[in-house]
Amino acid sequence: MTNSETITDSVLDIEKIRRDFPILKTKVYGKPLIYLDNAATTQKPQPVLESLHNYYTHYNSNVHRGVHFLSQQATEAYEVARRKIAGYINARHEHEIIFTKGTTNGINLVAASFGKKFLKAGDEVLISAMEHHSNIVPWQLICEEKGATLKVIPIDEAGELKMDGFDELLTDKVKIVAVTYVSNSLGTVNPVHEIIQKAHAVNVPVLIDAAQAIQHMPIDIQQLDADFLAFSGHKIYGPTGVGILYGKEKWLNEMPPYEGGGDMIKNVTFAKTTYNELPFKFEAGTPDISGGIALGAAIDYVQHVGISAIQQAEEEVVAYAYDRLSAIPSLRFIGDAKHRSGAISFLVGNIHPFDLGEILDKQSIAVRTGHHCTQPVMDFFQIPGTVRASFAFYNTKAEVDALVDGIEKAKRMLE
Ligand code: ALA
Repeated sequence: MTNSETITDSVLDIEKIRRDFPILKTKVYGKPLIYLDNAATTQKPQPVLESLHNYYTHYNSNVHRGVHFLSQQATEAYEVARRKIAGYINARHEHEIIFTKGTTNGINLVAASFGKKFLKAGDEVLISAMEHHSNIVPWQLICEEKGATLKVIPIDEAGELKMDGFDELLTDKVKIVAVTYVSNSLGTVNPVHEIIQKAHAVNVPVLIDAAQAIQHMPIDIQQLDADFLAFSGHKIYGPTGVGILYGKEKWLNEMPPYEGGGDMIKNVTFAKTTYNELPFKFEAGTPDISGGIALGAAIDYVQHVGISAIQQAEEEVVAYAYDRLSAIPSLRFIGDAKHRSGAISFLVGNIHPFDLGEILDKQSIAVRTGHHCTQPVMDFFQIPGTVRASFAFYNTKAEVDALVDGIEKAKRMLE
């Protein structure tokens, strides 16, 4: 199969799309880059790069502070970006969109602030066994502080949540459920609609970690009805250092500020400080202004291509990857869920994931190796780590072929 044959049979014109991402022309060790580490971070299209350049070249200024022209221009662009993000996930209110540093920061905010207000000794927080460390450790911190207990929905050998386990654990002690939409290490897509419905039936709010979902599938937050949803800009073709926490107005109004500083106050005296309205109550200090604006540009780009078309193109390339990888003798997948998204984890024979990753790297193929910040998942499968190939809509079947050839080569060298 030639490169051009494989890239034109997609729902999208992948060849044209690839021209939007300058980095994809990069050569690594003299060979074309094959970037299959999209779950770690995605590459950036030209409009996002231009947005960053444009901001610093033409209107770099602080937001929400100055009456001067540039500050007003920056504030307007930053708030337009917030509006775009609200529109993209169909939030009921723009002020339910909080700019953060990323998913980790968003989850820490909810754990600390919701926990401060609503958790007490004897309460429980329910997470799952396939969470990223970012959706484990913030809850451990607040549980320790409050004398609450962290409970864990178990997974099975396929890497799926045991929903009967969830039903059993959802007792009246649980004050919040926090689960990932898509597992970063297994690719499993979790039944978050069902989880939210069941939790709401007993008046328990739900936080969804959408770090590995936002770039792969449409999310309508009103339809999903999650109470909180956190994601990172850099996973959806935007810059690093900026992310979004969606929170339902009723919770955000009741929760105390997470950080203190400029922008989050209404009035400060040494005796007492009153807090700003939403969303600013949760946005202390100068934010990542260029990042927020460029995240808006990334959302425009995704909407221009179409998230449903992106999803379809990715499903095609991921299905092709499964097909080709399954034919490699001694390759075993880690996780075999029925519903999966962009990440595929595997091991080959007795080859250590780092060794395989290094040999692939020398062939200009970028994958991630290790525990992927999900050590409990590795413990469950009793492995030190995996090799993870993770896909975006700009990946081609020819790149999958190169991955397969690269693994075969590593096998010849190491087995
Ligand atoms: N959480 C990111 C990943 O899965 C960094 O690679």
